Amino acid sequence: MGKKRVWLDCDPGHDDAMAIILAAYGNPDIPSINRFREYGDSRGIDLIGVSTVCGNQTVEKTTDNALRMLNLIDRNDVPVYRGADKPLTRPKRNCPEIHGESGLDGPDIPAATRGAQPTPAVVAMAEALLSGDPADKPTLVATGALTNVALLFSVYPEVIHRLDELVIMGGAYQGLGNTGPTSEFNIQCDPEAAHIVFEAGLKSLVMVPLEVTHTVLVTPEIRNKYFKGSRFRILLDELMHFFEESYKKVFGFDHPPLHDPVAVFYVMLPAMFKTKRMRVDIDCGQLCAGTTVCDHYGMSGKEPNVTVCTKVDVDTFWKTMAETVAEADKVSPINSK
Ligand code: RIB
Ligand code: CA
Repeated sequence: MGKKRVWLDCDPGHDDAMAIILAAYGNPDIPSINRFREYGDSRGIDLIGVSTVCGNQTVEKTTDNALRMLNLIDRNDVPVYRGADKPLTRPKRNCPEIHGESGLDGPDIPAATRGAQPTPAVVAMAEALLSGDPADKPTLVATGALTNVALLFSVYPEVIHRLDELVIMGGAYQGLGNTGPTSEFNIQCDPEAAHIVFEAGLKSLVMVPLEVTHTVLVTPEIRNKYFKGSRFRILLDELMHFFEESYKKVFGFDHPPLHDPVAVFYVMLPAMFKTKRMRVDIDCGQLCAGTTVCDHYGMSGKEPNVTVCTKVDVDTFWKTMAETVAEADKVSPINSK
């Protein structure tokens, strides 16, 4: 079986930007993947499409940011489709306090050299995910609000059982949220969409929650090791510097957690994670809207519906992230300006 066909639904966003690099260059021949080839499921990624959603910033901005990032890493071959500009039922909310007015504040990232495709994201996602060899089921990764995914499953329910996996960055399994007291931003943005997705009966829904992504911190050691030297690497460091300042101000973190690439890393090397199957329900109320209510001990008597990640091999994550940054660094047009 060749590379895993992967579609990324995202809201760039500083960490989504790094997830795009990991997905675009997570080839099977990079050392981290090669080294684990004998672990079976390390096929590497074929990034077949990117869709954008309102979340960290407006969908106009997240779309432009996705296009600029793909241009920056010389992957203008990957089509980008604009998705939902607001949650299903709730008012739009963005996160300029973390990602800035552009959604990728910090460095000057060169303008995109192309626009998004004209097809609406949900239609393009269905066309792509329903095409190809039925035996080679594609993977959908979502690192923003689940609005597009909920619309996709509602309009094209046949996609649900065509997916090998849906892997999301989102939620929290021990009760502490980030932008909500008990809710994580991606789920809190659109709880109704998350409810649709979590109730869809997916063969494999994998949740990479805050408790795991908060162990993947962009420390000064990481920045000095991987984000120095070329103009491309310096630009990434400027992104991380802005992200760090935001996390210090808003959450009192010394270093920012690199949430979204961890969901892509799961697709590449699931053996590097500890997981637990459990029932997860989404609170769509008011006070705790967007809370992922995780039944650790199975006391609800409900059938488990989610594979919740509880731990990641952080060192191997950084090795893999660094290898894909190095691949992108070789071809980034910004290095030859
Ligand atoms: O809560 C963190 C998540 O919300 C990340 O995906 C970040 O990019 C924002 O979308
Ligand atoms: Ca995101």
